[in-house]
Amino acid sequence: MKETKLWINGQWEQTENTYELSSPYTGKVIAKVAKANVHDVERAIEGAHTAFTSFRKTSAYERAEILYRVVDIMRARREELAHILADEAAKPLKAGLGEIDRTIATYQFSAEEAKRAHGEVIPMDVAPGTQDRIGYTKRIPLGVVSAITPFNFPFNLVAHKLGPAFAVGNTVVLKPATQTPLSALIMADIFKEAGLPDGCLQIVTGSGGELSDTLVTHKHVKKVTFTGSGKVGLGIKAKVGLRKITLELGSNAALIVEPSTPLDDIIDRAVNGAFNFAGQVCISLQRIYVHRSIVDAFTEKFVAATNRLTLGDPFDENTDVSAMIHPDEVSRIQQWIDDATAQGATVATGGEFTERTLSPTVMTNVTQSMRIVCEETFAPIVSIMAYDTLDEAIALVNESDLGLNAGIYTNVLTDALKAADEIEAGAVIINDIPTFRVDHMPYGGVKNSGYGREGIQYAIEEMTDLKFITMKKSF
Ligand code: SIN
Repeated sequence: MKETKLWINGQWEQTENTYELSSPYTGKVIAKVAKANVHDVERAIEGAHTAFTSFRKTSAYERAEILYRVVDIMRARREELAHILADEAAKPLKAGLGEIDRTIATYQFSAEEAKRAHGEVIPMDVAPGTQDRIGYTKRIPLGVVSAITPFNFPFNLVAHKLGPAFAVGNTVVLKPATQTPLSALIMADIFKEAGLPDGCLQIVTGSGGELSDTLVTHKHVKKVTFTGSGKVGLGIKAKVGLRKITLELGSNAALIVEPSTPLDDIIDRAVNGAFNFAGQVCISLQRIYVHRSIVDAFTEKFVAATNRLTLGDPFDENTDVSAMIHPDEVSRIQQWIDDATAQGATVATGGEFTERTLSPTVMTNVTQSMRIVCEETFAPIVSIMAYDTLDEAIALVNESDLGLNAGIYTNVLTDALKAADEIEAGAVIINDIPTFRVDHMPYGGVKNSGYGREGIQYAIEEMTDLKFITMKKSF
């Protein structure tokens, strides 16, 4: 069985304590994973701090070259990497290959942005007596970045932290999700092969409040970047003090389907948005508001397309939906569905449970206050609701504490622009599902969905300080 170690200062280090990692699909133990203690985390942070003193002085060209080499290595190992996702996250191969391709793009964008991270010239002749000066800004790396990443995109959401951090000369201590350490750890080998100096990337695995506290409060940590649940994110925010922080949290992403929508053109796309990786995606399509004149036709087509999905082994190339990440998550969502049906909701299709899976589930007759609607489900379940006017639909979308991406289908330009203006979300996706993301886009939430933005250029802004320099042209 595979036994993993910590990656500290360019060396693999064994730990006294370990935990067993099981496949979410089979339940079989697939690895014994190193469990870091606080001392390990402190050493990792101190090593990253030391590495920063020289890495900050490397040129943009050198850093871009490292990232381009990561791109090349990942391209060559694409299938192998997707298999790791199937093994430790039960991500179906189809979706896993898609994630690897996106990860490659994320590192490529990072390499390109490494060469574009620049400041600006500030006009200095703006007040009496200031005309004899020049002024400009520079983007300065911060130092050690603590990155805490989730299980749902174990390669790409790690890339969203490492790519921009390395592009500008920061160093990183990475703590991946306890369920997906293998994808993170293989990046240590890939970055080493690509020429990243030792100490610039440290990877600590394990769990526990003390570990996270050290990662977010150590004096050498200058920036915390976290993707995960709102509850944990708020806890981190309360501890970071004046450090910079980015939080990518959850949502209950909504879609409005206006009467002008050609349903046959969008159904498969919407089904994919709801059930890709068993709905365990922060922008998974969870709430669909359909105009009353077409809601029956939409529901019939949506249910039929959902029934065509294949639930099964993540290693099977035909599988669309596999196990949820943990049996506890299956029990949680079972309870939420039971609560909803007790309040009058209908299971239009799906709702079949095993210990590890929930079949793709479509709910109707739901209300805004049911947990399956108003909280993030992170499960293969979607609700369809009817509305009468666009104003009402927008109000329903906004009646939520969350706001990451939202979508609207309409061929009426003024309605599209109205939705773009009035929907409370980090992004409004017109004529596509809210589950749309290309990795250079600004990405992040409003309300309780997050703080700050990712997307390489935007993450770079949040991972650098702006320094202003001015010089008098004569004494
Ligand atoms: C997320 O689930 O946080 C990210 C979604 C994505 O990158 O597609």
